[in-house]
Amino acid sequence: MKIAVLPGDGIGTEIIAEAVKVLKALDLKFEMETAPVGGAAYEAAGHPLPESTLKLAKEADAILFGAVGDWKYDKLERALRPEQAILGLRKHLGLFANFRPAICYEQLTHASSLKPELVSGLDILIVRELTGDIYFGQPRGKRTATDGAFPGAEEAFDTMRYTRPEIERIAHVAFQAARKRNKKVTSVDKANVLETFQFWKDIVTEVGQQYPDVKLDHMYVDNAAMQLVKAPKSFDVIVTGNMFGDILSDEASMLTGSIGMLPSASLNSKNQGLYEPSHGSAPDIAGQGVANPLATILSAAMMLRFSLNQEAAAQRIEAAVQKVLAQGLRTPDIHSAGTTKVGTAQMGDAVVKALS
Ligand code: NAD
Ligand code: IPM
Ligand code: MN
Repeated sequence: MKIAVLPGDGIGTEIIAEAVKVLKALDLKFEMETAPVGGAAYEAAGHPLPESTLKLAKEADAILFGAVGDWKYDKLERALRPEQAILGLRKHLGLFANFRPAICYEQLTHASSLKPELVSGLDILIVRELTGDIYFGQPRGKRTATDGAFPGAEEAFDTMRYTRPEIERIAHVAFQAARKRNKKVTSVDKANVLETFQFWKDIVTEVGQQYPDVKLDHMYVDNAAMQLVKAPKSFDVIVTGNMFGDILSDEASMLTGSIGMLPSASLNSKNQGLYEPSHGSAPDIAGQGVANPLATILSAAMMLRFSLNQEAAAQRIEAAVQKVLAQGLRTPDIHSAGTTKVGTAQMGDAVVKALS
């Protein structure tokens, strides 16, 4: 078994170091090979996703990814920006199904910005389509407007689009996930305005007929954003497009206490997977040793479960994370009175120690 380890930029390197520490402590037989990605790869090789990194990722049984990006690359042409690395990996490997579980651990009920009773026991799963939508739709670019309020003016445009098979396969993923959970899918769309999402809604409804045991409802994305903070526990599985899923998952992360708690798995049809925290490179806190590594450590647990067939090891990690939280250890993002503030490496060490 081979794991491609791609730390990336900013806190990416700090949080990956802790996840690797935890993986090594499990004493399982797998090989890890590290390669540069994002801004780090641009500096080293002139491209955010060098051929050699892509080759390693394609050949590996699983990919553990940190984060990419830094403000200093914002002026680069788009093809060379760090974010193209993660977008490129998703596209090249066909990682269309993104799982972002938002679980509020009992110990963190008070770390959330919502009232404890709203998040206590929360366990929802966001299934985000990851290789389509306005993120990848062509054409896109700049041109001169020919209509609208300012004909003749300079304009920029993107294309929102989904094909039928893209919607069908992500819908199946969501219904199958719901079958193993509380048997409820909420499909989030903007069918009241967008053709793309009327199509989405119609197809999800069609696919849903194959899952009569799963309850399906539909919600507009603006309402979903509101319901997520009003009554988050009313959701079980949320299935949505690439852009809405991006936004709603950051929102959902705060229900768990911090964006530093939200792991993710991105799978293709061969069940090959990329595992990364849902957050970014956090340039504002990079290099300070204060980033929360738990989202990445929990992503490593998802990797063991989904790609490496090591369910027992995944559970060991998840139990260890709960144990350190029960011990009261907190990085600054989840720290509150009565708990012990620790740094990134201390948190990683504590998880290693708590493995049983
Ligand atoms: P971000 O997720 O990096 O940070 C948002 C806020 O959350 C910041 O205040 C940050 O300090 C905090 N935060 C994030 N992760 C944390 C952690 N583990 N522990 C404690 N606090 C944490 O989002 P942003 O600031 O909008 O973007 C920064 C850069 O990251 C951009 O270049 C963006 O494109 C990139 N990004 C990359 C990925 C990815 O690699 N998959 C994901 C999101 C953003
Ligand atoms: C994420 C990130 C990425 C996205 C960016 C960095 C391309 O925000 O993984 O959530 O928008 O998908
Ligand atoms: Mn995001």
